[in-house]
Amino acid sequence: MTTVDLLAPAKVNLCLHVTGQRSDGYHLLDSIVMFADLGDRIALAPAPAMALTVTGPRAAGVPDDARNLCWKAADRYGRAVSITLDKHLPAAAGIGGGSSDAAAVLRGLERMTGRPPAFDPLALGADVPVCMLGRAARMTGIGEGVEPLDLPPLPAVLVNPGIEVPTPSVFRALPSKHNPPLDPIPEGAAPGVLIDWLATQRNDLEPPARAQAPVIGAVLAALAPARLARMSGSGATCFGLCDSLTDAQALADAIQAAHPGWWVAAVTLS
Ligand code: C5P
Repeated sequence: MTTVDLLAPAKVNLCLHVTGQRSDGYHLLDSIVMFADLGDRIALAPAPAMALTVTGPRAAGVPDDARNLCWKAADRYGRAVSITLDKHLPAAAGIGGGSSDAAAVLRGLERMTGRPPAFDPLALGADVPVCMLGRAARMTGIGEGVEPLDLPPLPAVLVNPGIEVPTPSVFRALPSKHNPPLDPIPEGAAPGVLIDWLATQRNDLEPPARAQAPVIGAVLAALAPARLARMSGSGATCFGLCDSLTDAQALADAIQAAHPGWWVAAVTLS
């Protein structure tokens, strides 16, 4: 086994429709997911026993034991390994930090051993299967349906106001759990066409998340100069889609200057 180093990219839900609810309480989703060129970093090294070290600017409060999804992923895979998690993404933020970390651990273990996981990654979390793919995809079911999509790279600004939004309470507060699925997706379209189409779709979790965390409204207002501003996942992170990375960086700089306490990043989604 050799050492591996991977990016666990931020996941962004460009739209997210809640189309139903299973008898076990999990919600059926229809969502387009893309990934940023920014995320946590995971380093794996062979070790006689499981070990996890958390470093980086967002390490505070992240568990470094069996409670961490990285640890659970390696444990389920059945391989003791030393994990270094360099945390850059805010937690409980709607951008899949924990799921992307777990998926990176599984991809890294597969690379180290040549053996894919012998269990369903969905067991670790609904976002883990799409994070295993790590590129533009449509996500359906509760997260087990993952279909790659041909979408152009999109420059974007990500903004998190520094509050954690608990996913279960946002789902519970949904006024309707039976909303229409996505309209036919314009695969292969130019970025402007895709953005215009996205504006006609929704994130059904945005209204209940805004009711619980009104600061999300302020984040969306700050992102208003973008071509499209919307919340990702169950929040509180929002994204703004821009025409160029230069525009995205200028908007990110302006938002960061006005809100020094917010987490702000200019990225490319793919
Ligand atoms: O699977 P994950 O641990 O990310 O989900 C966190 C919580 O979000 C679940 O316990 C559930 O309350 C809610 N959830 C849901 N339907 C989904 C995904 C998550 O109700 N498809």
